[in-house]
Amino acid sequence: MPEITFLGHAGFMLGEEGKETLIFDPFISDNPQASVKIDDLKADFILVSHGHFDHLGDAYKIAEKSGATIISTAEIAGQAGEKGLNSHPQHLGGRHHFPFGSVKLTLAFHGSGIPGGHACGFVVDYYGKNIYFAGDTALFGDMKLIGELDPLDLALLPIGDNFTMGIDDAVVAASFLKAKTVIPYHYNTWPPIEADPEEFKKKVEQKTDSSCVVVAPGSSYKF
Ligand code: NI
Ligand code: MN
Repeated sequence: MPEITFLGHAGFMLGEEGKETLIFDPFISDNPQASVKIDDLKADFILVSHGHFDHLGDAYKIAEKSGATIISTAEIAGQAGEKGLNSHPQHLGGRHHFPFGSVKLTLAFHGSGIPGGHACGFVVDYYGKNIYFAGDTALFGDMKLIGELDPLDLALLPIGDNFTMGIDDAVVAASFLKAKTVIPYHYNTWPPIEADPEEFKKKVEQKTDSSCVVVAPGSSYKF
């Protein structure tokens, strides 16, 4: 059974015994919520949603140490490649198959953090389970398509407001996505993104058919 571990802020680690480890948006060094040390992190693939410091974070350091392949937009993957790191460029709407399954880059309405780039989200097929990681984004109506095209086992959604969706918009996102389970992130790292994940959970479970699991930094959820 795959397991997802919340690394704090927008960082997640996805893996299963004896299979590849994927890390999403590893922001560890300067992260007040960080639950791990960089030296303890090993990955086969690192998925980076955009170039803001709280997402690109320590991706290059971890890739350098572990030889992981950075999967991101062409702009960020290109920058990783220039640093001599393994990288795989994709772009919005494109899917690529990997030994564990596949990665499709989705829209995300947010700054790219890199010249000429675009922020993205990811739909990952990991050994038959579909996981949507929204990145940093506003609510948008085409989230309905994401869940229709790839029925989701898990949706990871930012709820902290100010820079991304807040709780009420993220509840609407959950109603569009129709994932079996929703996990919130991007909240309570700093004062501007304070939010109560229990309020989000209550509203998701009142207003949608999804269940919501609040995962504390350092904790894991099997699905
Ligand atoms: Ni951002
Ligand atoms: Mn962010």
